[in-house]
Amino acid sequence: MSATKQPDDTIAFLKNLRQSRRFLDKPVSKEIVQELLDVARWTGSAKNSQPWEFVVVDDRATNTSLSEAGQFTQFLDNVAVSIVIVLNGASPRSEAYDEGRVSERLMLAADHLGLGSGTAWFSTPDAQDTVRQLLGIPADRHVWSAVGFGYADPSAPQRATSVGGGRKPLAEIASYGRYGERSKG
Ligand SMILES: Cc1cc2nc3c(=O)[nH]c(=O)nc-3n(C[C@H](O)[C@H](O)[C@H](O)COP(=O)(O)O)c2cc1C
Repeated sequence: MSATKQPDDTIAFLKNLRQSRRFLDKPVSKEIVQELLDVARWTGSAKNSQPWEFVVVDDRATNTSLSEAGQFTQFLDNVAVSIVIVLNGASPRSEAYDEGRVSERLMLAADHLGLGSGTAWFSTPDAQDTVRQLLGIPADRHVWSAVGFGYADPSAPQRATSVGGGRKPLAEIASYGRYGERSKG
């Protein structure tokens, strides 16, 4: 944590980080992309297996094609750059966990670098095949998601229209001492 950053700022940052979906028409520098990749590289993974590779896509036409691949991936059509996460498929259960960690770290780092970002999910085999074909990813690799980045457009709504915001209250999801015990004691 930097000297000027207070613990409360970090907690507020973690609570307030949201997915961005609308971006300004402004490129992200190659230096920033390298920084993001380096953060991704240093993410922890099961048995330090580092099951990932990353494909950087900064070509608008390719990002538009990626945006058409998944059911809810439309926002990729206006990102400055996306990073597609390629997994080696050796251990799907732990890789799913590792993928979540690396995605979240990318999004946290993006915010620190002044960028908005969002996860795009290629949930069907067809969508995954489309992404493999677009990017020349070998058939034996798993590709479930990308993180898109750009300078968030402050004048545009960032939420997907079909998905609500907000969160469940702790009274509904937290137990203390024993499952279902809602009293904090
Ligand atoms: C595994 C996963 C897949 C997601 N896939 C998409 C997606 O394909 N398109 C999208 O717009 N958002 C996607 N999201 C973002 C969620 O919709 C978002 O995190 C959720 O609505 C909460 O909003 P917030 O992150 O802005 O608080 C995904 C998030 C996760 C964790």
